[in-house]
Amino acid sequence: MEKFDVIIIGSGPGGYVAAIRAAQLGLKTAIIEKHTELGGTCLNIGCIPSKALLASSDHFVFAKKEAAKHGIKIDGVQLDLPTMLARKDKVVKTLTGGVRALMKGNKVTTFSGLATIIEPGKVRIQPNDGEPNEIAADHIVIATGSVPINLPSMPFDGETVVSSTEALCFDKPPEKFLVIGAGAIGLELGSVWSRLGSEVTVLEFLPRIAIGFDLEMANLLQRALTAQGMTFHLETKVGSVKVNNGRAIAAATKGGEELNFEADKVLVSVGRRAFAEGVGADKIGVAMDERGRIKVDELFRTNIEGVYAIGDVIAGPMLAHKAEEEGIACVELIAGKAGHVNYGVIPGIIYTNPELAGVGLTEDFAKEKGMNVRVGKFPFRANGRALANADAEGWVKFIADAETDRILGASILSHAASELIAEIVAVMEFGGSSEDLGRTVHAHPTLSEAVKEAALAVGKHAIHIGNR
Ligand code: FAD
Ligand code: NAI
Repeated sequence: MEKFDVIIIGSGPGGYVAAIRAAQLGLKTAIIEKHTELGGTCLNIGCIPSKALLASSDHFVFAKKEAAKHGIKIDGVQLDLPTMLARKDKVVKTLTGGVRALMKGNKVTTFSGLATIIEPGKVRIQPNDGEPNEIAADHIVIATGSVPINLPSMPFDGETVVSSTEALCFDKPPEKFLVIGAGAIGLELGSVWSRLGSEVTVLEFLPRIAIGFDLEMANLLQRALTAQGMTFHLETKVGSVKVNNGRAIAAATKGGEELNFEADKVLVSVGRRAFAEGVGADKIGVAMDERGRIKVDELFRTNIEGVYAIGDVIAGPMLAHKAEEEGIACVELIAGKAGHVNYGVIPGIIYTNPELAGVGLTEDFAKEKGMNVRVGKFPFRANGRALANADAEGWVKFIADAETDRILGASILSHAASELIAEIVAVMEFGGSSEDLGRTVHAHPTLSEAVKEAALAVGKHAIHIGNR
């Protein structure tokens, strides 16, 4: 039986990044993936294909509605969905192929098949065809990710009632597209099909969209998406979805009233759940929490010696970059180094237009907890570059400790918010203050000047707007 120093199960961003880092540290590393392609949810059916469609559909809207404002006349703009989908598939293929090349380049041994831990230190691999194989290692990292929550009252049928996976490849825009859940998936994929011509209705149980993000910014995002043509029903709990002759009917309750919503496609995006089936964790006695997530300590160790877990299969935000950082920290700890993840500064982004980005505390959370904070805000309509770009919607907002001025959180609603937030994350990582960021030179004219100005607004000395 071939013996490795570390075996990684699952090749999503958690698993494949852990494998590369382990190999860099000189560990003899194996990675096992049950799907034919490497890259996990993120590369194959998550982050990457959704962003490819968001980019293409944004260009479509630009060509149809925005270009004329720049003095560019484009007549007869038409949707060529097969080409759009093929481009998305090509991007996915390039990246999953890239991960395979990275495995090879780092001398990580890749196995294809279902991995099951049969006892601590030993893993059986069952390929799709052929005989099973067994390999051994002192350290086994479970990185088996997550899957969409499939509710019995609205089961996926792969055709009419679907998960994000199918909503990434409809062969035509649904006429009426119903989205259940106004989280990241619902808002991003709702946006894609709305831009491509579908009538999109979003039903959300909570009184707000984008839970976890700053409430004020989330409300502004809802307003922007409504202006783009999406319809929202908040405080609307969907009880069931039934399909009749290819038409779906969602039965919901809103303020005690029973409502029915009809559609030709329904996306059920009510969250994802940790996936640890088939990996043998339960058989060898790995402890799970009440939500089926593998329990780990701060060193990513399960209760079984030599078995670790990272990424979506453990607690915390289900984000690719969180999984990556955990993968790196986990194998660094295995190699005897001091790996760690700073959970206080994990950015979250919803890639709509405008994008919503957040890190650390929100204003509503700080107020709810009665914290002594100062808030600084700056609108993109007062930023030269945003106006020059004709993309002046949105705000930057900082939350800083009222006594020390340390940045506790920030939110950005804007075009390119996903890129702008990185600077704030870096300053927060070093424990910086709003004054530190506000006094840092930012190139002119850039959108990042709005970040600087919002930081200055905490101390009431923003330059291009009145300070109250
Ligand atoms: P996964 O990526 O889920 O990978 C787990 C892998 O393990 C899979 O390939 C699976 O086949 C394999 N596996 C499972 N069991 C076994 C077994 N027994 N043997 C062998 N292999 C096994 N996050 C972001 O940060 N940004 C985004 O923009 C973003 N967009 C998203 C869009 C969509 C539509 C979806 C669905 C998700 C998105 N996410 C995004 C979330 C992101 O995809 C996940 O947080 C991330 O993929 C988690 O990484 P992971 O390595 O923990 O697990
Ligand atoms: P989510 O947990 O973000 O949102 C689900 C929403 O559905 C919640 O607002 C919830 O209140 C609502 N809901 C639940 N049951 C309902 C019901 N019966 N009726 C009406 N509303 C109901 O889950 P989502 O969007 O499915 O995303 C899953 C995970 O994938 C998230 O954790 C997210 O982190 C990750 N993801 C991240 C992305 C990003 O970083 N841009 C993009 C897509 C997914």
